Amino acid sequence: MVRIVSLVSGSGTNLQALLDAIGHRGPSYGAEVVAVGADRHGIEGLARAERAGVPTFVHRVRDFVDRAAWDRAMTASVEAYAPDLVLSAGFMKILGPAFMAAFRDRVVNTHPALLPSFPGAHGVRDALRYGVKVTGCTVHFVDEGVDTGPIIAQQAVPVEPDDDEAVLHERIKTVERRLLVDVVGRLARDGYRIEGRKVYIP
Ligand code: GAR
Repeated sequence: MVRIVSLVSGSGTNLQALLDAIGHRGPSYGAEVVAVGADRHGIEGLARAERAGVPTFVHRVRDFVDRAAWDRAMTASVEAYAPDLVLSAGFMKILGPAFMAAFRDRVVNTHPALLPSFPGAHGVRDALRYGVKVTGCTVHFVDEGVDTGPIIAQQAVPVEPDDDEAVLHERIKTVERRLLVDVVGRLARDGYRIEGRKVYIP
């Protein structure tokens, strides 16, 4: 059974989709969420984990002397759960060098745009402002850059003329949650290898 630690910063609906899939499919899904970590208190993502009986931890950047110390604390807390995969599901902080050294090629992120277009914290807003007619979501491995790691899967979502950021983001998230559950399950059950920028799932 593949062990997943998920990191969240907000509402945690992607995490919920994963928890629901595991609840419905049981061991045949191939993965379990062993802990949920966050960079802030009081978010629905943590409440979802607690309701599911999953242990949680929180490290706020402001509680550490510097970003490197925060990064080491995140690394140690995640390592304590010995995960096979780390899932960044709406986690809005850049993971640092210590974290990447510990979990290279094992950190999966989901992003609400078709990378390499519109990376960063405002992928939906940036796509809307640019005026694209099609956007979408990307599930990818995390590297040192901002949303630059090897792409695992993408799905397109149309932009409608009257969309605002909230409406468009919700349309993307409906697709994103399904894609994430599908991709994480396949990575867990079938394994994968990364060659340069290409990800192969047998
Ligand atoms: C998701 O759309 C995810 O792609 C996005 O935050 C949302 C989290 O939703 N992440 C980023 O923008 C990262 N750059 P959720 O908390 O309901 O799962």
